[in-house]
Amino acid sequence: MQAFDYYNPTRIVFGAGRLPEVARLIPPGSRVLLASGGSSAERNGTLPAIRRALAGFHVAEFSGIEANPDADTLLRAARLCREQALDFILAVGGGSVADGCKFIAAAACHDGDAWQLVAAQAPLTRALPLGVVLTLPATGSESNDGAVISRRASGDKLDFSSPLLFPCFALLDPATTLSLPARQTVNGIVDTFVHIVEQYLTYPADAPVQDRFAEGLLLTLAKTGPALLERPDDLSLRGTMMWCATLGLNRLIGVGVPHDWAAHMIGHAVTARCGIDHGRTLSALYPAVLAVQRVGKHDKLLQYGERVWGITEGSAEERASAAIDATSRFFTQLGAPVHLAHEGMCASDIGPIVAKLAEHGLTRLGERGDLDQARIRRVLEIAL
Ligand code: NZQ
Ligand code: ZN
Repeated sequence: MQAFDYYNPTRIVFGAGRLPEVARLIPPGSRVLLASGGSSAERNGTLPAIRRALAGFHVAEFSGIEANPDADTLLRAARLCREQALDFILAVGGGSVADGCKFIAAAACHDGDAWQLVAAQAPLTRALPLGVVLTLPATGSESNDGAVISRRASGDKLDFSSPLLFPCFALLDPATTLSLPARQTVNGIVDTFVHIVEQYLTYPADAPVQDRFAEGLLLTLAKTGPALLERPDDLSLRGTMMWCATLGLNRLIGVGVPHDWAAHMIGHAVTARCGIDHGRTLSALYPAVLAVQRVGKHDKLLQYGERVWGITEGSAEERASAAIDATSRFFTQLGAPVHLAHEGMCASDIGPIVAKLAEHGLTRLGERGDLDQARIRRVLEIAL
């Protein structure tokens, strides 16, 4: 196991019916930016409940944070924070709203071009505190230090992170997720699954605790995912999914082990160019990454196949193939695409996507940095 620091200051408040408790989680006297996405949180009653709970606070509202949040939209919210001297941000929504609010929190305290915090990884020295009321379990953003921000004007989608961006709290009320359409539920299951394997399915690192955590979460998803699609109104399953997604990317299972993230990096470039949902890029790209990187991942591929999918028969090569097939089959069973062409991507997009990754220095991906441009192209060709 590699040496590591583990730090996660986010308070988790989990349970159905707990939205009113948001008032005690925000420092008294705060001037709050209440930020949300389109209309889902209004329609499912989450925003009205939060508004009622915040009756004692000065609140300014900002809605319209889009999926794959756009820096230009978020900069308008950062301006509002400055104009009204707001000092606490409350994000109500999915990963896009949570990520967007992290950028707003940073931009509101930054003099100069805030996009450079993302594009040039300019050092972040101050950010407003934020809390998250999560309505879509998927990204783990509610209790991690990262955010993924898009800038449609330049065709970019990039991540940035800082310990200053950990939310103070994440309010996880599974009842808020009952209104999710199947497509978003599936996106969340796939995203969570791929977060876990990107931190687990690399090479052995003498980290049995992390391996068993990861396998436990993967086994839970393998069971909970299909059950949730059959019984979307099951609050208990919704709760399991919510906690699983948080644990998938709150940094715990990723300490002390190598990370991959190739599917994510390529997926962000695919979304920036083709507008495909994050989860739907991953269900197509991840099996392709496994196919291209199967030699380097051989040992963990066998462990994953046996412990998650019960694959014990056949030669090592047959078992490795079966593990990759089981992954694709799981995504297909959920109704997630395993081909990007079905989502509107064309062969002519591959060159510009590889070039965009290179523009950001992303030419050597994967846990060993051996997924070079030729292999990235191969991944995209297989996933198409
Ligand atoms: O905009 P509204 O109307 O709220 O609708 C949203 C949106 O259309 C809807 N939705 C959310 N909660 C709902 C709901 N609809 C009905 N009922 C509810 N309870 O779902 C749609 C998608 O929302 P979004 O927030 O975009 O989805 P998700 O949570 O999957 O977030 C995706 C974003 O997070 C980034 C992705 O790249 C993408 O930009 N990621 C962030 C990460 C992080 N910060 O650690 C890691 C991830 O790998 C990921 O990259
Ligand atoms: Zn993801």
